[in-house]
Amino acid sequence: MATKKKKKKVAYECSACGAAHARWVGRCGTCGEWNSVDEAKAAPTQASKERSGGTSKARPLREVDLEDAERLPTGIGELDRALGGGPVRGGVILLGGDPGIGKSTLLMQALAALSQAGNEVLYVTGEESASQVALRARRLDAPGALDVHILATTELQDAENALIDGSPTVAVIDSIQTLRDSELSNAPGSVTQLRSVASRLIDLAKRRRIALFLIGHVTKDGTIAGPKVLEHLVDTVLAFEGDPTHAFRIVRANKNRFGPAQEIGIFEMAGVGLREVPDPSALFLAERPDATSGSVVAPIAEATRPMLVELQALVAPAAYGAPRRVVTGVDGNRLAILLAVLERRARMRILDRDVFASATGGVRATERALDLPLALAVVSSLKDVPMDPETVAFGEVGLAGEVRAVPRPGARIAEARKLGFRRIVLPKANANTLNPDEKEGVELIPVQALAGAIAKMF
Ligand code: TYD
Ligand code: MG
Repeated sequence: MATKKKKKKVAYECSACGAAHARWVGRCGTCGEWNSVDEAKAAPTQASKERSGGTSKARPLREVDLEDAERLPTGIGELDRALGGGPVRGGVILLGGDPGIGKSTLLMQALAALSQAGNEVLYVTGEESASQVALRARRLDAPGALDVHILATTELQDAENALIDGSPTVAVIDSIQTLRDSELSNAPGSVTQLRSVASRLIDLAKRRRIALFLIGHVTKDGTIAGPKVLEHLVDTVLAFEGDPTHAFRIVRANKNRFGPAQEIGIFEMAGVGLREVPDPSALFLAERPDATSGSVVAPIAEATRPMLVELQALVAPAAYGAPRRVVTGVDGNRLAILLAVLERRARMRILDRDVFASATGGVRATERALDLPLALAVVSSLKDVPMDPETVAFGEVGLAGEVRAVPRPGARIAEARKLGFRRIVLPKANANTLNPDEKEGVELIPVQALAGAIAKMF
């Protein structure tokens, strides 16, 4: 009766995005990457066997023990803030960021602090040797750093054994891409490896209630290398951002099952590791030139804490050919739209000029509320007339040249007031919703259209 088993079907998978393909293709149709599709081998499903003993029963939420989410504050305030109060036991955090941004440094500092507080902690490194990590730990101004247990390995099984034998409460894997599951033949960093390594480590962390940090490499467009599934598997995704040529670093929670997303923590890279920056606005504005055209201060408020950033623009005659637009820290597409709106709706001759724009301090300022201040910075440079130095501006600009309301106007104004600013250019729709406390001590300049805002300011 036994029918011969059909020849095993080969599946293909993109190593960049994890999309499945029925046959080999040179370019992944899902993410557009070339030469990323390879034969996929199914990972053994041993983990799932171990996890469910088949004894779990559904129960009402009120009977669920809330102590399950036990937090371990690291004592590094800015990191705890980004995490919504600190890592959670049994929670897995993926930290992504450019090489050299300070991922290893940040997590070594966190482990040092947690160790100092009496926790058993483990640092697994597949990137550097144990002595390189020890050297860094000695450099840090962090008591407790030398009590951190270190394991230098690229074998998943070694890491698993250390997590089981050492029973740490907090562990760091640096990095997820360097570990390989020796039961699989794929190269380390391939989708199959990543998926297996990540799911086995996550499973272990959940069962043994380890707060686990996974460091992940990022691709050139800033997303975490490897399949998107990695981001789905973990509880929290942190991005470590910043211009490597500047000292400022921002940790941003892009996803957080245990706290608010988009919360940020701010650091400065110093000789003794990362230093917290509890009052970023003052630092971001410290080097602002006085009475120079092309500079406008704007409050950003993506996270729960608003911050002031300085936007700068420089408009210059285009030398040859197509005019250039070069941006750092601001959104280039947004700038292009704003220039077209300035030309068509505010009658500025700008489209044939070179325009350079930046947000100072290495911040990535891409919020829509920065449309109005960025446009004003461009006009200020074009006219070579400085903006009033005690004024900040915020508001979204629409294609018709209208200025639209943005979220959290009160918090933005409060931050500006705290830093000594006197006048606020803001969308009229926002100005109408403010209560008396929120507008106390500042002069509001409500605007409805970009052209009107320019007329009032210059
Ligand atoms: P690192 O944490 O190794 O970055 P990542 O793990 O994200 O690749 O940090 C790298 C940079 O930080 C390196 O160029 C040196 C610098 N650094 C300092 O400036 N001060 C310090 O105290 C330390 C430890 C590093
Ligand atoms: Mg590193």
